[in-house]
Amino acid sequence: MVIKDKVQKAINKQINVELYSSHLYLSMAAYFESISLRGFAHWMKAQSDEERGHAMKLYEYIVERNGIVGLTEIDGPKTEWKSPIAAFSETYAHEVKVTSMINDILSLAREEGDYATEEMLDWFVHEQMDEEANPKLIIDKLKIIKDSGDGLLRLDSELGERK
Ligand code: FEO
Repeated sequence: MVIKDKVQKAINKQINVELYSSHLYLSMAAYFESISLRGFAHWMKAQSDEERGHAMKLYEYIVERNGIVGLTEIDGPKTEWKSPIAAFSETYAHEVKVTSMINDILSLAREEGDYATEEMLDWFVHEQMDEEANPKLIIDKLKIIKDSGDGLLRLDSELGERK
């Protein structure tokens, strides 16, 4: 069964959101490079790659359903943040928004009786739990660190280990 237009449109919109997320996190990586926190930058680059992977999962799904992938332009993200905690707070808020978008597509798929899309989105529902939990944990650690340079450098090393 060919994918319905409504569902295809919503998934294409989500591809754009995932590509914007990739762009946003790459911009955050560049911000961290600019303040010499290379471990934080590494974490954000890995996150940016992951977001492109999310976009590609949706792309491949539309192709598999004999639909048409429709790419649009991607907004330019900010290039500077006030502090590491400001960047991670924005990451967390962005991920909460993405979760709600995924939930909206899931509701649409259910309304349209599109079980294949529902099943495909299951992966994203689980992934979003991590996507929210990871920045939240880093925010909590940054709150503990406060103004300790030592603590910040230790967290920088830890984030630099991200696979
Ligand atoms: Fe692709 Fe971070 O959600």
